Amino acid sequence: MAQKKSILDFQRMKKEGEKVTWLTAYDYPTAQFEERAEVDMILVGDSMGNCVYGYASGTIPVTMDQCIAHTEAVRRGAPNTFVMGDMPFGSYQITPEEAVKNAVRFYKESGVDGIKLEGGRRITKMIRAIVDAGMVVCGHIGLTPQSTGQFGGYRAQGRTAESAYELILDARAIQEAGAALLLLEAVTPEAAEFITKELTIPVYGIGAGPHCYGQLLIVSDVLGLWEAFKPKFVKRYANMAQESVSAIQAYVADVREGKFPEDVHCYRMIKGEAEKLAKLSQ
Ligand code: KIV
Repeated sequence: MAQKKSILDFQRMKKEGEKVTWLTAYDYPTAQFEERAEVDMILVGDSMGNCVYGYASGTIPVTMDQCIAHTEAVRRGAPNTFVMGDMPFGSYQITPEEAVKNAVRFYKESGVDGIKLEGGRRITKMIRAIVDAGMVVCGHIGLTPQSTGQFGGYRAQGRTAESAYELILDARAIQEAGAALLLLEAVTPEAAEFITKELTIPVYGIGAGPHCYGQLLIVSDVLGLWEAFKPKFVKRYANMAQESVSAIQAYVADVREGKFPEDVHCYRMIKGEAEKLAKLSQ
């Protein structure tokens, strides 16, 4: 079994050009599968708002309690994998004190190894405060789902020189504030390459091209469980939605046709007990 990686391993992997594999998980069995498949890092993303809870407004309603409960389950399923938790909308934007309080609660109650916060220069005070309290922080810029309203929807970032330059300023500020890692979401490969090469901390991407030191995807996209929409950057490796519907249809048909349960699925009485019962009940 692979040993649980630490932030030192991620720095070493960057130095040695070894790519980091990163996937979301929201529950115990999926975390077990990912650990068995030797994923380097798991994100318990607030994308649970879409993928688990089906909220129309995506990540916005997700709470600290939900993030902690799902992270705890993932921790139990993947005790030997680095687990990153997502700070939900509203848990870190108000004051640095509140951000630290929620981050401490996250660490204490879920056993998480690091936490991710969305936003650039406008949240560096919060990043600094959480780092000063002794926690591992991953910054997250580009298409940040908690603020898609400000982007006018799910839009790739860094398409113009001005927009790419804003991302560079945000990336520098996040590193300066003490973050250990940075995630770029839906960012052009040109901007991502610049940021990846300039920063000393490892930079990973989801929809940010091949230059980043690691790649993240949402497990529901990878397994084909999430059908509402498929972003351009997603590669599906299975069609579990269709597999699941087919399996459930087969079960329904078997029950209706009397083909399930069969003898192998039944608990039998001890030898001779059925005859005794027949006499008893006369
Ligand atoms: O919540 C999540 O899964 C995320 C990814 C979309 C980066 O933050």
